[in-house]
Amino acid sequence: MSKQLAGKRVLVTAGGTREPLDAVRYIGNRSSGRMGVALAAEARRRGAEVTLIASNLAVPPPDDVEVVEAPTAADVERETSSRADADVVIMAAAVSDYRPAETEAAKRPKDESTWLIELEPTTDVLKHLGEHRMNGQVLVGFAAETGESGLERARKKLAAKRVDLIVYNDVSRQDVGFDADDNEVVIVSGGGERRVDKAPKDEIAAAIFDEVERLT
Ligand code: CTP
Repeated sequence: MSKQLAGKRVLVTAGGTREPLDAVRYIGNRSSGRMGVALAAEARRRGAEVTLIASNLAVPPPDDVEVVEAPTAADVERETSSRADADVVIMAAAVSDYRPAETEAAKRPKDESTWLIELEPTTDVLKHLGEHRMNGQVLVGFAAETGESGLERARKKLAAKRVDLIVYNDVSRQDVGFDADDNEVVIVSGGGERRVDKAPKDEIAAAIFDEVERLT
């Protein structure tokens, strides 16, 4: 294996954020962090210095990478922004688009009334990185969408978020994507698209880094 990323700093976000409602409850998602962990391991294999921004991982992080815990979207925003000078940034985490407008410090007791929850938008970290990125940085986003119309939306995200690659995966399927061992993706770039057939996530990670290396 060539160490093509030797001397490069790679930042990967992984997992799914949890936005607290009270002391014990949260709004979360099904992301396990497997794809992001596979990407961090692949970057390390290729010789990069790797930081993993970890949101509630259900799997262990790889050896030999720096791990920074980031349970909420605000944590991901802070920890990613403070390392936005990395050579390669891959936003594989499922970052919540909304958070409860108010969080109760104690556990909310049960009563007979309806509990109405107001949600406010979080910062779109990937979009922010796209707007402020340094020359030469490679920026990769994921698009968790459903069906062929989802692929069309992924293409639009490439331009809207000013990123180099969008990795589209169909989250309506049970056998790939969220909380599965395998994935099947389309890597969308300005120059075209590469379909990667269903494979274990470490093979998908290698295909993504082949595309990243073309851009570095
Ligand atoms: N993302 C982010 N910050 C957020 C939400 C998402 O950085 N607050 C990143 C994810 O890490 C992913 C990409 O944006 O790389 C796409 O996330 P997705 O939820 O599919 O897209 P959205 O931009 O939220 O678009 P929409 O929900 O409208 O389809």
